[in-house]
Amino acid sequence: MSDGEIRCVGLVKTYNIGQPNEFRALRGVDLTISLGEYVSIVGPSGSGKSTLLNLISCLDSPTEGSVYIEGVDISSLSDSKKARLRREKLGFVFQQFNLIHSMTAFENIEMPMRFMGLKRGERRGRVEDLLSLMGLEDKFSNRPSELSGGQQQRIAIARALANNPLIILADEPTGNLDTRTGASIMGLLLRLNREEGKTLVMVTHDERIAGKANREVHIRDGKIRVD
Ligand SMILES: Nc1ncnc2c1ncn2[C@@H]1O[C@H](COP(=O)(O)OP(=O)(O)O)[C@@H](O)[C@H]1O
Ligand SMILES: [Mg+2]
Repeated sequence: MSDGEIRCVGLVKTYNIGQPNEFRALRGVDLTISLGEYVSIVGPSGSGKSTLLNLISCLDSPTEGSVYIEGVDISSLSDSKKARLRREKLGFVFQQFNLIHSMTAFENIEMPMRFMGLKRGERRGRVEDLLSLMGLEDKFSNRPSELSGGQQQRIAIARALANNPLIILADEPTGNLDTRTGASIMGLLLRLNREEGKTLVMVTHDERIAGKANREVHIRDGKIRVD
């Protein structure tokens, strides 16, 4: 078993933008990320960073090539197995937080646990632990609109950790935050990598953030740039 490993082989992604036009957003990407690595994906806007992360996230399928998560070709999985893999193995953090606005902080974090058969009491205990890990014990009944951007992103990180995944995928997680708040969110993500050994794959266009990674992968026009 290759725990926490991600392997991309020959990934091509073509978007149809109305026949006969198509746009090749990824043009053959090979990338292997091992358990516990922190890899940042850097590149100009429109270079294919989110496209790559969406393929790794099983949110979208490649036009050619394969993504293997822990040795399993995700294109071989049924939709329900894919959903399960997403739930159990991967945690997601987005630039726009993507919290559910009608739900409290508690309910947002609890949501991924509801599919895992955890009992109510266990869920509650785990949400409380995650809220205190994020320093937001007192916000459990607040809705996202009552929280600052940095607090919303902390809730989103807690939600990403709900099922204790080995892999965290983050797409410009500090993109909507001021510098100081962004730095504290980065500190949290880094700690999860260094202290808990989670694989961290982060898209960013901030060179200072990228510089903290074990490895920087530079992407340009849908290809990994080789120096
Ligand atoms: N759903 C889509 N349909 C058509 N083109 C898309 C779609 N999503 C992304 N693209 C195009 O693919 C390229 C890469 O996009 P993206 O991966 O979002 O870039 P990045 O995250 O690096 O800014 C861009 O030129 C973008 O316009
Ligand atoms: Mg993007």
